[in-house]
Amino acid sequence: GDPVDYQAENATITNGVAESNHAGFTGTGFVNYDNATGSAVEFSVNAAAAGPANVVLRFANGTTVNRPMDLTVNGTKVASAVAFGGTGNWDTWQTVTIPVTLTAGTNKIKATATTANGGPNLDKITV
Ligand code: GCU
Ligand code: CA
Ligand code: CA
Repeated sequence: GDPVDYQAENATITNGVAESNHAGFTGTGFVNYDNATGSAVEFSVNAAAAGPANVVLRFANGTTVNRPMDLTVNGTKVASAVAFGGTGNWDTWQTVTIPVTLTAGTNKIKATATTANGGPNLDKITV
């Protein structure tokens, strides 16, 4: 079906905080990942039917250093250390798209920081 937005600030946050102190987000804010390995955001994504889908992650990284994250779907790692490079400043948002395979019903999609810098600021995913 048509892509649906899932706001990071409404998802399950592990070692991070929902904030709104940088412009350009959608919804009511974004997640500021703690600058630590393993900080994560997990989304519950509904799929009407099993099959391929694109996960579009909207993020900002106001540093010049990559903030890689792993992506898991229902506990299985589907992408390792995906690059979330610098976007110029914390008010500038870009997207990264990761192809996945979903099962019918609820899918748990989790983005986990793989370095001590933590993840980027994450606005939402669109699936
Ligand atoms: C700044 C910025 C945060 C960001 C953090 C970081 O503190 O205001 O939004 O998350 O840098 O480096 O991760
Ligand atoms: Ca942070
Ligand atoms: Ca948001």
